Amino acid sequence: MLNFAIQIARDAGSLLLQRLGAARVSNKGDIDLVTEADIASEELIIERIRSHYPQHGILAEESGEAVSVGASRSEWKWIIDPLDGTTNYAHGYPCFCVSIGVARAGVLEIGVVYDPTRNEMFAAERGQGATLNDRKIHVSDVEELNSAMLCTGFPYNVRERPDFARDFANFTMRAQAVRRDGSAAIDLAYVACGRFDGFWEDGLNPWDMAAGVLLIKEAGGRVTDFGNEPLDIYTKKVLASNGLVHDAMLGVLR
Ligand code: IPD
Ligand code: CA
Ligand code: CA
Repeated sequence: MLNFAIQIARDAGSLLLQRLGAARVSNKGDIDLVTEADIASEELIIERIRSHYPQHGILAEESGEAVSVGASRSEWKWIIDPLDGTTNYAHGYPCFCVSIGVARAGVLEIGVVYDPTRNEMFAAERGQGATLNDRKIHVSDVEELNSAMLCTGFPYNVRERPDFARDFANFTMRAQAVRRDGSAAIDLAYVACGRFDGFWEDGLNPWDMAAGVLLIKEAGGRVTDFGNEPLDIYTKKVLASNGLVHDAMLGVLR
């Protein structure tokens, strides 16, 4: 199943690259975009899952909860973001990916994040560790916020949420650096492989984080909500880190 997920993510990623710069863009909300590539990528992924695992449930960003024969009874669910980083994609800024997570009875079993512009495939299976292009990855060993490179994201209702600016300012004053890349799935994958030491965002959806959360757990990191409770991917607030700077990050968010 992991190899199957990897293959679909690779094919969907190639589709995104092929259409980069050519895909028509429309608005879902004020600043929330969708492109033809989001839709085409999602169709490719869903079609492949349907033909291979017709009984499995699917939750995908653009089409929501897919109802297929038997899906309501299946304990398996594929949680898909066909293009994470749509705003970047629409502007030709090369930071976007395909994110595919698979849960069984609510437990994440498989996570794949594929960045086609760098040809980077992040993959994890529960209990088997995490890899980047087939090499084992691990979270960083940075212990102090003062030496930490952090990342965050702003959800589409940012204009109604001045608290984002407050958290951003507070982390900027405490960390070595703070980045805002525009693809939550890549941000989480980067925590898993040690490029970032921590990540926080309030406003994520399950398809943004399902794969990335498993990558981080399997790479030895920690993922909670802002109150240090175990993360439920159906709630919005995510704090992810190498584990070592987690308490300090919780302190800043409090
Ligand atoms: C968005 C990106 C962004 C994050 C937003 C997400 P999309 O996903 O992951 O980094 O800040 O909260 O909605 O719309 O590009 O798939
Ligand atoms: Ca997304
Ligand atoms: Ca998306």
